[in-house]
Amino acid sequence: MAEDITFRNYRPGDEQGVVELLRDAFGEWPKLDIVCSRVDYWRWKYTGSPFSDTGEMVVVAEDADKIIGVCSMNVYPVQLGGESALFSYAGDHAVSKEYRGRGLSGRLIEENRVNRDKLGIKYTYFVTQNPILVKSYDKRYHVFPVPIINMVRIDDVELQLSKIPMEYEWLMKTGYKALQYANRVMNRPTGLYGGLEIESTREFPLEVDELYRAQGRMGFMVNNSRDYLNWRFCDPRAGPYRIFLAWDGDRLVGYVVSRVNRFIEDYHIGYIVDLLALPGEKGAVEFLLESALAEMDQQGINIVLSMIPKGHRYEPCYAGQGFVDSRKNLHLYTNLNTWGEEAKLEVLNPDQVHFNFGSIDSLPVNYPNI
Ligand SMILES: CC(C)(COP(=O)(O)OP(=O)(O)OC[C@H]1O[C@@H](n2cnc3c(N)ncnc32)[C@H](O)[C@@H]1OP(=O)(O)O)[C@@H](O)C(=O)NCCC(=O)NCCS
Repeated sequence: MAEDITFRNYRPGDEQGVVELLRDAFGEWPKLDIVCSRVDYWRWKYTGSPFSDTGEMVVVAEDADKIIGVCSMNVYPVQLGGESALFSYAGDHAVSKEYRGRGLSGRLIEENRVNRDKLGIKYTYFVTQNPILVKSYDKRYHVFPVPIINMVRIDDVELQLSKIPMEYEWLMKTGYKALQYANRVMNRPTGLYGGLEIESTREFPLEVDELYRAQGRMGFMVNNSRDYLNWRFCDPRAGPYRIFLAWDGDRLVGYVVSRVNRFIEDYHIGYIVDLLALPGEKGAVEFLLESALAEMDQQGINIVLSMIPKGHRYEPCYAGQGFVDSRKNLHLYTNLNTWGEEAKLEVLNPDQVHFNFGSIDSLPVNYPNI
């Protein structure tokens, strides 16, 4: 490693350099249609959250005043085995092309670990699709004990393949349409939502905190408090999320967050980003899903993606709406075992895990690569 490379925490004024590095490293950044500047988006993400508003979890590497590496984390309170714990989630992480393969990425992670220790954050989780990092992380970290699957609903398979060609045509090989049909038939929605009303909103109401508490003891779930949700999905800098609430009288029984990503100009992709209902309210899950999907159908969205823990009770609801398990699992890691906490995670069952696109920081635009 060159001796004049320095590592330090983020300082206001670094934004432009960091964004340029990320755009170069990822081809573009963020791969989202945003309505503000990239710098403002970065500020929303790393200095706008109710849990870390100073960018204290962003480390940069510099060579002669140029930012050539960055490792960024968000801080989230997570319910872990029924108890509250602070987690860091590893977000944008990149090293300039000319500096790769010299250990900088590892060093940035290490510097961030020091910050985590200072802030008393014991746990971290992160995802990657980069094959280099998958290989490295498989050796070092712990794979999350419940597989997170990618559910996909495609209307016109030919159109999807013409827009995002695949090397190995999974969609053809599995007979996607036949599978989708069988799923719909076997998981026909119950239609048990007679008394419910759906409301579209731009802000989460106070009742959402009660909805979170009503989930009971969860093995792993980001604390979806109203403050968190309003930062994550309602700040205009985050982009155009859509939120539907399901009410039974004045009782909030669930919500769904969806988004259409218009990053690819002529092929917009839909996502069910977050979905949560009171335990036992299967009808609400179906109604919320139907409502979000109906809106995307009206906009002519051909593909909708979602993520859930494999075997979760919502899985049949997705299947009933034409979603199919793409068999593309997320590479999700945690450092948890290194803290002697393995027991907490090993007892997880899928219904005690709340994990979806809202739990990570990107919406994939090159499906089936998630
Ligand atoms: C991924 C990335 C951050 C790695 O940065 P780097 O400074 O080159 O990584 P390091 O030199 O610290 O090496 C990290 C590991 O990858 C391995 N590695 C690095 N370059 C490699 C290559 N070309 N081929 C195979 N392995 C490689 C290293 O041996 C090391 O493995 P180890 O942890 O088992 O020792 C960098 O390639 C990058 O910015 N990529 C584009 C953006 C991206 O994909 N970010 C990750 C998003 S999660």
